[in-house]
Amino acid sequence: MATTNRGWVLESYPLGDDFDAALKLRERPMPEPGPGQMLVRSQYLSLDPANRGWMIMPTYIPQVPLGDTMWGFVLGRVERSNVPGFAPGDLVSGFGAWADYCLIGAEMANKLPDLAGLPLYAAQSLFGLSGGTAYVGVIDIAKAKVGDVFVVSGAAGSVGSLVGQIAKLKGCTVVGIAGSPEKCAWLTAELGFDHAIDYLREDIDARLTALCPNGVDAYFDNVGGPITNTIAKHMALKGRIVLCGSMAKFSNPGPELDLGPILLNRVTITGFILIDHFDRLDAANADLAKWLAEGKIKHKADIVDGLENTVTAFRKLFTPGAPHMGKLLVRIDPTAN
Ligand SMILES: NC(=O)c1ccc[n+]([C@@H]2O[C@H](COP(=O)([O-])OP(=O)(O)OC[C@H]3O[C@@H](n4cnc5c(N)ncnc54)[C@H](OP(=O)(O)O)[C@@H]3O)[C@@H](O)[C@H]2O)c1
Repeated sequence: MATTNRGWVLESYPLGDDFDAALKLRERPMPEPGPGQMLVRSQYLSLDPANRGWMIMPTYIPQVPLGDTMWGFVLGRVERSNVPGFAPGDLVSGFGAWADYCLIGAEMANKLPDLAGLPLYAAQSLFGLSGGTAYVGVIDIAKAKVGDVFVVSGAAGSVGSLVGQIAKLKGCTVVGIAGSPEKCAWLTAELGFDHAIDYLREDIDARLTALCPNGVDAYFDNVGGPITNTIAKHMALKGRIVLCGSMAKFSNPGPELDLGPILLNRVTITGFILIDHFDRLDAANADLAKWLAEGKIKHKADIVDGLENTVTAFRKLFTPGAPHMGKLLVRIDPTAN
C-alpha cells in the first residue's frame, strides 16, 4: 500500500471564489487510523455548496482549520478499520476529506443503503444528503399536499431536482427556477416539472404572475438573494417557505428580504438543516428506492474525473448557469461505477 496520500490542503481562507489560492494539492504521509477510526480509500468525493461555508466561518460544524486537508463527504472502500462493524473492503459513506485516502470516525460513517444493482454514485445522487434533504424538506417541512403550487429554486441541482419530483409525487403543480435553457428543458421534458423559469434570461416576477395567479403555496429555497425576494412577493395566504440554502450569499445577495408581504399573507418561514432529521433517512431511502423502481423518479450525477480536478469542479457550484445538473461528484477511483 502507498505510504503517501494526495489531498487538497486548506492553506488560506478563500477570498471570494478564489479557491485556487486557498487550496493546494499536496502529498502527505498516509494517515494512521486511531481508535474508533478507519482508513478509507475514496471512490467518489461529494462536492457540496456547504463545503464553501465550512471554509469561511463556523456553521453547524467548526470552521475548517488552516493546514487541514479539506473536509468533505466521501464514498469509499475501507482499507483498515478500528471500527466494529466495518471491515476492509466494505463500502462506506461518511465525513472524510478531499483526498485519495482519508480517516473516517465511527460516528461519522454510514454503511450504504442497499443499492440493488444501482451504480455506486446513486448513494449520493439519489440517497444520502441530496435525497434526504429533498425528502424531509418537501414532506416534513413544506408539508406538500395535493393541489399546492410548489416552487423550487436551484431546481436543476442535486437537491432541487429531487425536490421538484417529490413535490410532483405529492400532487403539486411544480415550478422550477434554474439558470439555463438546457436546465429548464431537463426539468420539464425529463423530470416532469410543470414549468421552469430561466432566471438568467426571463423575468421571474412576470412569469410567476402568469403561472401562479393564485400565488405560491410552498417555496423550497435553495438560493436566497434576489430570486427569493421576488418569489416571496408571490406567496399565497398561509404559504410556507422552506429555507434550505443560500447560494446567493456567497456573491451578491442584494437587499434583505422584504417581510411586508410575508406578514400580510401570514407566511411561515422554516429554516431546515438535515442534521436534525437523520432519523428520517431510512424512510427517505426506502421511498426513494421504491419510486425509482416504479419509474417515478430520476437522478443524475455530474461526474468529474480525477482528484486534481476537484477545485475546478467545485467552482461550477457557484457559477450561475454553469453546465451542472444533478449531484456533483469527483471520481477518484477510475474503476468506480
Ligand atoms: N439545509 C440542508 O440540510 C442542506 C443540505 C444539502 C444542501 N443544502 C443546500 O441546498 C442548496 C443546493 O445544494 P446542491 O448540493 O443541490 O447544489 P446544486 O444545486 O447542485 O448546485 C448549486 C446551484 O446553485 C445555483 N447557483 C449558484 N450560484 C447562484 C446564485 N448566486 N444565485 C442563484 N443560484 C445560484 C447554480 O444553478 P443555476 O445555474 O441553475 O443557477 C448551481 O448549479 C445549497 O444552497 C446547499 O447549501 C442544504
